[in-house]
Amino acid sequence: METFVAARPLAKVATRRIEDLPGPRGLPVLGNLLQMDRQALHRSVEDWVGRYGPYFRFRVGSRKFVAVAGHAALAALLRDRPEGVRRAAKLERIWLELGLPPGVFIAEGDAWKRQRRMVMAGFDPTHVRDYLPSLARVTERLHARWARAASRGEDIPLQPDLMRFTVDAIAGLAFGAEVKTLESDEEVIQQHLDKMFPALFGRVMSALPYWRWWRRPADRRLEQAVVEVKKAIEVFMAQARARLAADPALRSRPRNLLEAMLVASEAEGSGVDDTDVAGNVLTMLLAGEDTTSNTLAWMLYLLARHPATLERAVREVAAAWPDFQLDHERLDRLDFIEACAHETMRLKPVAPFIGLQLLRDTVVADIAMPQGTIIWGVMRHDGLDDRHFPDAAAFRPERWLAEGDPAQAASAAKRVSMPFGAGPRVCPGRYLALLEMKMCMAMLLSRFEVQSVAAADGRDAREQLQFTMSPVGLRMRLRERTPAGVAAS
Ligand code: HEM
Repeated sequence: METFVAARPLAKVATRRIEDLPGPRGLPVLGNLLQMDRQALHRSVEDWVGRYGPYFRFRVGSRKFVAVAGHAALAALLRDRPEGVRRAAKLERIWLELGLPPGVFIAEGDAWKRQRRMVMAGFDPTHVRDYLPSLARVTERLHARWARAASRGEDIPLQPDLMRFTVDAIAGLAFGAEVKTLESDEEVIQQHLDKMFPALFGRVMSALPYWRWWRRPADRRLEQAVVEVKKAIEVFMAQARARLAADPALRSRPRNLLEAMLVASEAEGSGVDDTDVAGNVLTMLLAGEDTTSNTLAWMLYLLARHPATLERAVREVAAAWPDFQLDHERLDRLDFIEACAHETMRLKPVAPFIGLQLLRDTVVADIAMPQGTIIWGVMRHDGLDDRHFPDAAAFRPERWLAEGDPAQAASAAKRVSMPFGAGPRVCPGRYLALLEMKMCMAMLLSRFEVQSVAAADGRDAREQLQFTMSPVGLRMRLRERTPAGVAAS
């Protein structure tokens, strides 16, 4: 075991090898596939943590995984990127095989470093602040859509509407495009994006690359969605180029991520080309859509089940927002809504696992793992442990506003619950996501009374994993408030 190099933050001495780890017994070809819940693979792995402890092995077809559930070991692995650890390679293979341009999520090594620098420039706080008026317009469109449904007494299909909101929001910020999916019931880009995530995930988790020999209707829909989304990206890029040509001053002060990326890609020796730009347009659309909208859906679901907490959130919004006007200072004051978001992401993280692969021999906790080991990072386990969060199963947003030093309490908790990942590849969209969530909640709670948020069968919302973990089939019923109504509540 001396040959194993402990990556910087990992334990130095290995006492076990992967072969020594426990794990569920599998079948010869399929491994543990048939023992897993196909709709919620993450839950099967989480259940196994209960049985085998935080480190164990399992197999999906011929792919061998090592599950790692301890938050300290996970954080160390996530920090050891890009040199010691990469995203699991199969996602990259499938992405490229579909003819999708690679962006910062897929890139590795030096290419990732270049892309990350380029993308981060678009997320600087001034930029995000400048974007607020556009985000407010998108939020107003969501308000109009929900006001129509409320006045007709209709149930709102929650997730599709929230996805329209997040697609419109990210298209505005990242591409300077008003795509207005919220105002249309026609064929919109969001419908194509919706097909991509589940189908990509299905391929990543598939035991065999069956689509190389036989394409099912879902595979044909995926390929068609790829064509449509690529066309839309070309249009975004052409529009941004036209704006840059019409107003050369924009070259020194680009107004959005896409303009900034195009300017960067044209600079000599940038190492960034049109494919990288297109890859990041796609990455923003995919990474910014499901994550934020599903977190919002889970948050509304949890709030609706906890009326006293919902009431406190309504009171906070009413105090900060007596006149219903959206602005930045007031968003900053929504501490309780932000705590609701953190608590939601602890209980219902939309990325409940992260797939990683070792680029060098590494000791993880006390286990020697060779280069190439595929790791299933179980992101939710420690966040649901009473030792880290008293009464961990309960939805209690106030725990993020703990008495004493709230900043310190929250930062200790954030080391255990890592819904945005950690280390150099931590989610670059996290502040934007929190801003979108606060904006949406402020609009919702100030303008409407939430009458119900529930699954169609009235039972607990099921978790479904298709890259992101979403609640299945939530419907929401709203009643419009009058300004006097919210002030009085
Ligand atoms: C509640 C909302 C969100 C959640 C929970 C979330 C979560 C995550 C997680 C877990 C990762 C992997 C981090 C890691 O490997 O350590 C990630 C990466 C990423 N996210 Fe987010 N995300 C959210 C919203 C967004 C938004 C709004 C955007 C952009 C518009 C975005 C863009 C990205 C990108 C580009 C990456 C890849 C970063 C890299 O590999 O360097 N995310 N996100």
